Amino acid sequence: MKELTTGTEVIKLHVGEPYFGPPDQVAEAFVEAVRRGDTKYSGVEGLPALRESLVEKLRTDNGLDTDVSRVLVTPGSCQGLSALLQSLAEPGAEILLPELHWPVHLQQSLLAGLRPVFYKLGPDFLPDPESLAAAAGPRTRILLLNSPANPSGAVMDAKLVGALLDLARSKGWQVISDEAYEHYVFEGEHLSVAALERDVPVDERIVHSTFSFSKSVAMTGYRLGYVAAANEKAADALKVVQEASIIGTSTPAQYAGIAAVQTRADIAELNRKRVMTSRDASLPRLVEAGLLGGLPAGGWYAIADIGRTGMDAETFATRLLDATGVAVVPGNGFAWHPELDEAGNIASAAYAPWARHLIRIAFCVDPDALERGVQSLLDFVNDHSAG
Ligand SMILES: Cc1ncc(COP(=O)(O)O)c(C=O)c1O
Repeated sequence: MKELTTGTEVIKLHVGEPYFGPPDQVAEAFVEAVRRGDTKYSGVEGLPALRESLVEKLRTDNGLDTDVSRVLVTPGSCQGLSALLQSLAEPGAEILLPELHWPVHLQQSLLAGLRPVFYKLGPDFLPDPESLAAAAGPRTRILLLNSPANPSGAVMDAKLVGALLDLARSKGWQVISDEAYEHYVFEGEHLSVAALERDVPVDERIVHSTFSFSKSVAMTGYRLGYVAAANEKAADALKVVQEASIIGTSTPAQYAGIAAVQTRADIAELNRKRVMTSRDASLPRLVEAGLLGGLPAGGWYAIADIGRTGMDAETFATRLLDATGVAVVPGNGFAWHPELDEAGNIASAAYAPWARHLIRIAFCVDPDALERGVQSLLDFVNDHSAG
């Protein structure tokens, strides 16, 4: 919580900024790197020592069979995703995105020149292979998966991941697996998609994975993430994009990353428990009130339906903020479905009508603020419910 210049206290349930920070070792490693003068360019792929520790982490924690030559450090996983999309894009190629998605996935696809195609989600906001196959066409090249998902918190199980990977393989698609929230699973367990192709020859692999230090170790402002490219060819293409885009990732941040990888097991579990405790303390009341279908199985966010107020989500969010100082995000921004003309220009830019009454609530925030924010939201909904 921070004071705005208006002096009004805002309870920020709109952004995914955790109330906890990284462990001391991370800050110390950063500062020591700066003091030592380890502030030169690190090379486009990242520091070898960090990449080696990431290969080990990916092997033991995620079940991936990878190599330093295929692991690239990036300034946040957001930039890694963007570079991956640019390196995989072909003229006219389509990317499959979930109908309810993190808007950055869509924006990055458009910037890379990809044509977004949206696939329907089933119960609990999970993808289903049939809807995916139905949405795809002859120009489809990339399938984007995100589990645990932003904004829904949906977590895919091994059966579903296996079915989606089989489908992608049979259709000749590349898969991008955004695993930024890998350590925040509250029901079931996290499965890295690429773990399912560890026995496939490297040059036949199709899964490119992105990971983040922002969530697991709460290093949001350090800007540190990494990509595990499926094969050497993809890693080489990614390197070319990165040379032209970033030259390299901040060297002190990478030293902080080495410290973070060393402490990750304890820290990530502690952080998972922190967020789960907040989820369990505050969100059940939203479920009981019928605003949430159930508790999110993972991630930092919940999607609530405020349809009973009769307001659309934008009006609701504005009025809620004015009346109570609680900030939430209108859900339509997660369901923008632009259509492109043949030349690739945006021809129509409508939001999916079913998202009209959805809002996203971040529950990684300070537990006390979350508690007060949820109560204010519930009171506001009750005061404004039709009938
Ligand atoms: C689904 C998802 N992927 C990736 C990111 C990017 O995280 P970062 O760039 O901080 O690693 C975010 C951040 O909110 C996210 O929600």
